[in-house]
Amino acid sequence: MPAPQTSEIHGHRGCRGLRPENTLPAFLHALQLGVDVIEMDVVISADHQVVVSHEPWFNPLICLDPAGHPIASGSARLHNLFELDYAFIRQFDCGSRVHPGFPTQVSQPCYKPLLREVLSFIEAAAVRLPRSPVGYSIEIKSSPDGDNIFHPSPDIFLSLVLAELTAAGVVSRTTLLCFDPRILRLAHQQHPNLATCLLVEDQRPWSTSLNELGFLPTTFGPDFTTVTAEAVQMLRKDFPGLRLVPWTVNEVADMHLMFELRVDGITTDYPDRGIHLFAAT
Ligand code: G3P
Ligand code: CA
Repeated sequence: MPAPQTSEIHGHRGCRGLRPENTLPAFLHALQLGVDVIEMDVVISADHQVVVSHEPWFNPLICLDPAGHPIASGSARLHNLFELDYAFIRQFDCGSRVHPGFPTQVSQPCYKPLLREVLSFIEAAAVRLPRSPVGYSIEIKSSPDGDNIFHPSPDIFLSLVLAELTAAGVVSRTTLLCFDPRILRLAHQQHPNLATCLLVEDQRPWSTSLNELGFLPTTFGPDFTTVTAEAVQMLRKDFPGLRLVPWTVNEVADMHLMFELRVDGITTDYPDRGIHLFAAT
């Protein structure tokens, strides 16, 4: 089986296991740990700012309102970032409470940053580190079976994100990730030079999802539990040149397995574990 020479470490939401997700401290820590790629998710605010956030709402598990109170789960007004201007969004603290699923997070007050701010922060920090420029995996959240969160429209969303990448000079180091093939097709059509990654979370054969897409993306991102020797062999044979970067690989034993199966990279909430493992092999 043709195999990659190295496996990249992609810091998931920066390093969600170690710092508040999708925040400047998480991105800085991931960079200091030595990740190859920083992964993040973006949504669009009512005033058309590109905001780094996994959910297009405030997660009641981790966010506090501007008065420092937990968010009531029935508070609809606080649940749709695309209905709020960014100046309002920025007043929420999404870092002081440790995510219950990631008790090793080091908490600190953090707001949801703009993509523009994140790129300029990382690029400035990266020049102080003795390593190659970091790559970016930027995920547009859209479900293959719905578009209720895909605001304001696919075209506007893509053009706003591309404008930020272009202004920061990082287009050539960025891969656009999406579970929704409709968005990837549009991105490929409108920005053919932009690298793309098809994410999948269903249990269908990988070839079915890839053939349905209609073009060969740069990268394929399956749930890591679906990565088997047979599936990797098929991918290398039938889709030559396609990179394989499964998500979200957090346990060391699973990282070992992924490296043995010669994936091109792993996305992990714990880049420290992956980097130590890789350094030790
Ligand atoms: O990199 C892919 C991964 O981020 C997809 O899962 O839900 O954490 O965005 P999610
Ligand atoms: Ca993501």
